[in-house]
Amino acid sequence: MPCSHQPRPQECGRNQGHSVTTKTTAIDPATKSMDDIVALCKRRGFVFPASEIYGGLNGFWDYGPLGTQLKNNLRDDWWKNMVECPPLDPDGHPLQIVGLDSAIIQNPKTWEASGHIAGFNDPMVDCRGCKARFRADHIDEYECPLKPSKKAGDHDKCDLTEPRQFNLMFETFIGAIKDEDAKAYLRPETAQGIFLDYKNIVDTMRVKVPFGIAQVGKAFRNEVTPRNFIFRSREFEQMEMEWFCHPDEAPKWYEFWKEQRMGWWASLGVAAENLRFRDHEEDELAHYSKMCVDVEYRYPFTAPGFGELEGIAHRGCFDLTQHQEHSKQKLEYFDQEGKQRYIPNVIEPASGLTRGVLVLLCEAYTPDDSRPSKVFMKFHPRLAPIKAGIFPLVNKDGMPQVAEKLYMDLRRRFTVQIDVKQNIGKRYARMDEAGTPFCFTVDGDTLSGQTVTVRHRDTQQQERIALDKVAEFLGEQIEDGE
Ligand code: GAP
Repeated sequence: MPCSHQPRPQECGRNQGHSVTTKTTAIDPATKSMDDIVALCKRRGFVFPASEIYGGLNGFWDYGPLGTQLKNNLRDDWWKNMVECPPLDPDGHPLQIVGLDSAIIQNPKTWEASGHIAGFNDPMVDCRGCKARFRADHIDEYECPLKPSKKAGDHDKCDLTEPRQFNLMFETFIGAIKDEDAKAYLRPETAQGIFLDYKNIVDTMRVKVPFGIAQVGKAFRNEVTPRNFIFRSREFEQMEMEWFCHPDEAPKWYEFWKEQRMGWWASLGVAAENLRFRDHEEDELAHYSKMCVDVEYRYPFTAPGFGELEGIAHRGCFDLTQHQEHSKQKLEYFDQEGKQRYIPNVIEPASGLTRGVLVLLCEAYTPDDSRPSKVFMKFHPRLAPIKAGIFPLVNKDGMPQVAEKLYMDLRRRFTVQIDVKQNIGKRYARMDEAGTPFCFTVDGDTLSGQTVTVRHRDTQQQERIALDKVAEFLGEQIEDGE
């Protein structure tokens, strides 16, 4: 099947064309403070440190009410874009991609076959002087905890050990007896579950190569140095799609997915200047990978540089070949038309869902001295955790009842919140920090003229619209972005 680098034609409504973007005037990420972003996340219920009342747990985070909604919205947009309404090929035919939800703990032979037991290691060094531990391949990025502060290894008292390989998989035991035979692993990537079910899907779903299998879910890595908020954590979520194709067509599909994935991130309102591709050098390719390119984002802690957001890898036939060998099950594909039997190649767009949330949080964070909150979160309306706030101007004169009715009319279609407490300025400020794109206020004129004010988050401008047109207005704004 032919494929090209062109962004696909628009169809299937809002999620299909990558032409839908919010107008972003990108603020230089280097001017944004991670401390401020983390503080807002805590204050507004996006992200909390896990087990905080017990002092937290390094590398683990909880997603609060707004963070969960934001994460779900990002996940749903990806799923819609991959599975429910997948991209079109250049001839205008929808690609075939099916969904999966496989177990987190798989037969441990999975990880022997995949190479994770032997090769999923990070080199680690310890400092005998300051007792800190660093990833040897990232040593330039760390500071020694001793004062005066210097780069790791550069302090007079630093005495680094030789690098040691450290396997990143979390171990657990199945059943009552904790011995070698009972050892199992929490999955370090969602991808392997897809390879294990590849045959089941070919046998049951009438899919023909090329086709894809998509999965979203938790992954676990015992990272040597979790850091930068939710960027590198020990428990996180991934959104991965394995695209099975004929080996001769793999290079074309690699280019196709590369462009698709960049287009999708841009469609969420991430400014073009904060995104870029970076090809992996030969010596940094993962053990399964023939080629790999990262979609990178300019995080406040990497700026002016970039850091990984998603990887698009050409995995060749590595995984299916390995699982065929280790399981002794035939995983070849038989092409009825071409009368050919082969192991498909795989192109894998693999992104972090929780890392994507971090990108949305960093990108949305917009300092603004002109408003009481001094900051607002400029989420694309499609992704905003709350789509609209509904406020009676005062908590009397029939206004709460009209606001309540509006809320009841909207809540089935949109995630909306009614708020009757505090003065209107404070309610706007709360919604600005939550990134709510619209606030509808019921006031005296609503009762006489059946209109409400709508306040736009980004401009703070207000206009009046008919009360019975609020749902239509919201629908249009969310589909199109502001
Ligand atoms: N199946 C291929 C794979 O897992 P990866 O580059 O190791 O590839 C894919 O992971 C994506 O998962 C990364 O681009 C990143 O967004 C996310 N990710 C990986 N490790 C992570 C961690 N410790 N914390 C948060 N996200 C992580």
